[in-house]
Amino acid sequence: MKVKIKNIKSIFTYDIESNSIINLGNKEILIDNGVIIKIKDNINYDENIIDANGYAITPGFIDCHTHPIFTSNRAKELEMRCLGKNYQDIANQGGGINSSVKSLRNADYTNLYESSLYNIKQLVSNGSTTIESKTGYGLSIEDEIRSLKIINEINDNIDANIIPTFMGAHAFPPEFSGDHSGYIDLICNEMIPEVKKQNLSLFCDVFCEADYFNIDQTNRILEKAIEYEMRIKIHVDEFKDIGGVKLAVEMGALSVDHLMNSNEDSINILSQSDTIGVLLPGTSFFLGGDKYANGRAMIDKGCRIALATDFNAGSCTITSLPFVMLLSMLHCGLTIDEAILAVTYNAAKALSLENEIGIIKEKYNADLLFWDIDELIEIPYWFNQSKLKKIMINGKILD
Ligand code: NIG
Ligand code: FE
Repeated sequence: MKVKIKNIKSIFTYDIESNSIINLGNKEILIDNGVIIKIKDNINYDENIIDANGYAITPGFIDCHTHPIFTSNRAKELEMRCLGKNYQDIANQGGGINSSVKSLRNADYTNLYESSLYNIKQLVSNGSTTIESKTGYGLSIEDEIRSLKIINEINDNIDANIIPTFMGAHAFPPEFSGDHSGYIDLICNEMIPEVKKQNLSLFCDVFCEADYFNIDQTNRILEKAIEYEMRIKIHVDEFKDIGGVKLAVEMGALSVDHLMNSNEDSINILSQSDTIGVLLPGTSFFLGGDKYANGRAMIDKGCRIALATDFNAGSCTITSLPFVMLLSMLHCGLTIDEAILAVTYNAAKALSLENEIGIIKEKYNADLLFWDIDELIEIPYWFNQSKLKKIMINGKILD
């Protein structure tokens, strides 16, 4: 089915040729079967018309790093943090990732499905039309596979595009606390083959950090993922730089995420690679520290930078990419154009989807946001007010 959008004030998008954010002006957009087929003045088509009411249009935002598959909340940890405990203290006192693991394992499929769906709908309502969604609160074959099935089922049931990432290597579960290499064996010999066999995910992520998965363990897991033709992503340098960027680049990772504590060598290595650096300033904010990724230095050295919420039960409950854009400008040194690029085209690249989503152009998906703004800077400026008026996914306006 065809549909035409008329009465658009401006169309803001990244332009690959000029490597800049451009305004295509007040053209009309013709869509066929969810795909943009024409962007032009006065398109000769009068059947199905959407009136943009003079709003500005941007590509749908892409949240390329989230952990929304969980049930109960960890609000108590916020209080502990305010009393001076850090992320690791909290994990050692029964909180952290393993407390989410406990509640997920106790939840039945329907409860887990419903609360994960609720989380994902919050992200969509803020303009994220594609959402990468990691597992990692199951940490057993059964619960990791269940989490992946839920992500795939949510993707089938809602308009937004939900991309599953297998993250069995999020933490060591309690039953393997004395046998870390046994857990690596389980991931490599059973989990990854099963994920592949059931065709549940194309991506594999590891939390490469002191007290979580060290360089050798990360390497072992990701070698296996590559053997099973999965693309790899790595959580690196969230608390300490242990060399995760170097490993990621050597292994051809699609993205390295967090980068809050990356040293100069790591930034230099990233700048010489095709790996996308994903900044998650919402996590710095939510953890209450003053350590933000140095996005300015990274971009100046030539790194390609994306932004994401990192929405999860413990270290960041932010569901709004406009707010993350604001944080990236205030604390990571990004300009407004760099922040827009980071939630559109570069975020698509972090998911290997840059030929389908992330820009407004013929042959791209009609995933579009309609804003009551004159300038892009108003998106982070009004982060807490609803300037987002309509969301279109695959050519369809969400209710
Ligand atoms: O990206 N770093 C690892 N995972 C999440 C935190 C998960 C949690 O605390 O539950 C993150 O920050
Ligand atoms: Fe994360």
